[in-house]
Amino acid sequence: MSDNDKNSAASSMWGGRFAAGPAAIMQRINASIDFDRRLYRQDIRGSQAHCRMLVAQGILSPSDGDAILTGLAQVLQEIERGDFPFKAELEDIHMNVEARLAELIGDAAGRLHTARSRNDQVATDFKLWVRDALDGMQAALAGLQAALIDRAGEHAATVMPGFTHLQAAQPVTFGHHLLAYVEMIGRDRGRLADARRRLNECPLGSAALAGTSFPIDREATARDLGFDRPTANSLDAVSDRDFALEFLAAAAICAVHLSRLAEELVVWTSAQFRFVRLSDAFTTGSSIMPQKRNPDAAELVRAKTGRVIGDLASLLVAMKGLPLAYSKDMQEDKEPVFEAADTMELAIAAMTGMVRDMVVEAATLRAAAGAGFTTATDIADWCVRALGMPFRRAHHVAGRLVKLAEDKGCGLEDLSLDEMRTVEAGLTEEARAVLSVDSSVASRTSFGGTAPARVRDAVAAARRRWLEGGRP
Ligand code: ARG
Repeated sequence: MSDNDKNSAASSMWGGRFAAGPAAIMQRINASIDFDRRLYRQDIRGSQAHCRMLVAQGILSPSDGDAILTGLAQVLQEIERGDFPFKAELEDIHMNVEARLAELIGDAAGRLHTARSRNDQVATDFKLWVRDALDGMQAALAGLQAALIDRAGEHAATVMPGFTHLQAAQPVTFGHHLLAYVEMIGRDRGRLADARRRLNECPLGSAALAGTSFPIDREATARDLGFDRPTANSLDAVSDRDFALEFLAAAAICAVHLSRLAEELVVWTSAQFRFVRLSDAFTTGSSIMPQKRNPDAAELVRAKTGRVIGDLASLLVAMKGLPLAYSKDMQEDKEPVFEAADTMELAIAAMTGMVRDMVVEAATLRAAAGAGFTTATDIADWCVRALGMPFRRAHHVAGRLVKLAEDKGCGLEDLSLDEMRTVEAGLTEEARAVLSVDSSVASRTSFGGTAPARVRDAVAAARRRWLEGGRP
C-alpha cells in the first residue's frame, strides 16, 4: 500500500472534511491498535449486542443485521486464528474490525455504527475487559488463599518468633502468621467485588457524549452484555474511567500485600534465618557462588509491585486534568491496566506456587521462638494474675529477670527458681512454667489470637468464609 492509500484508509472512517491524510508521526502517536487489539473479543461482543438491538428496534433491517452478525463472527474467527490483517493506519481495534467487516459484507457494515460512537464503544469494550480481569484476579486470589489456609492448618501449632520492629517480640504460631495474609487477601477480594459491582453499568448508547436521537433500547444492550443496567448520564459514561482506576487501586494494594509476603520469604530463606526453604522450583543458583540458592521469584514479586503502583499513578495523572467528556488522553488508559493485570496474574501464581512449595523448618522456628526472651510478657502477665501486681510493676519484675538471664548468658526458662526469687520472692514453679513458648502461645486464646486452638478455628472459619462461599 502506498502512503497515500494508507492515509485514505485511515481517514475513510472520519475524513469527510479532511483534504489530506495524517502525517506519519501523527499516525504513530495516534494509533492504539498495537495494544487495544486485546479488546477484540469485547469489541465484537459489544457490536453484536448493538446490532441485535438495532434490528429489534427497527433501526436496522433484519437482512443487514444478519449480514453484520455473520461478518462479525468471521472477523472473530480470523482474529482467533491469527490471520487478521491488523492495520496501524486504521488506528484502533474498533476501526480495524469495522473496516474488515466492510471488506467482508460491503455497505451494510457502515450501518453498524448507527446510534453509537467510538466513545461509548471503547468505554463498553474496556469495561467488559476489566470485568473479566476482576473475575480472573478473584479466582487467582481464592487459589492463593486456599494455599495459605492449607499451610496454616498444617502449622497451627508450629511455634515461631513473632516480630515487631523485626525484633523478636512474642512467640506466635506459623499458622497464625499465614492467616494474617489470608485476611489481607480477603480485603483485596472485597475491594475487587466492590469495584465489580460499581463497574457493572453499560455505557453503550451514550454515543459520542450526548446520547442519540435514534429510538435505541439501552436496557436490552445492557442485559445482553451482562450489565446490571445502563449508565445514567451520557457525559459521565464516555468520560468515566473510575472502573479502571478502582481495578488498579485494588491491584496496587494487593501487590503491596504480595510484596510484604515476598519480603518475608526473602528474609526467612536467608542463611541467617532458615525459617523456610524453597525448592529448586522457585529458586535459582548463582553463577559464581555455588552454595547459593536465591529466592528470585519472591524478589521479583516484590519488585513488580512497583510497576502496578506506577500503573495506578499513571492513569490517575492522565485523568486528573480532563474536562468532560471524552478526550484522547483516555486512550492511555489501556496499557497500565493490561500491564497491571498481566503482572498480577504472574505474581499471584508465583506466590501461590511458593506458599505451596515452601518447606517449613519447624525445629529452627522453635529455637528462634524462644530466643530473645520472647516470653518476658508471659511472666509479667503471671505476676498480674497470680500475685495481683499492677502491670507496670510486673513489667519491671520481668525486665529484671531478662537482665539476670542476659548477664548469665542463658534463656529465661534456664533460670532456676531460686535465681528467679532473687528478683521476686512470690515466683513459683507455676511461674517458671509460663516461660515455655508452647505455654505462651497456648495462653493467647483471645479472639483473633495465636493459640493453636484459635488458629484451628480460624482456619475452619477462613475456609468457610473465603473458599466455600460463606459470608465474606
Ligand atoms: N482508540 C480510542 C480510545 O481508546 C477510541 C475512542 C476514540 N474516540 C475519539 N473520539 N477519537 O480511546
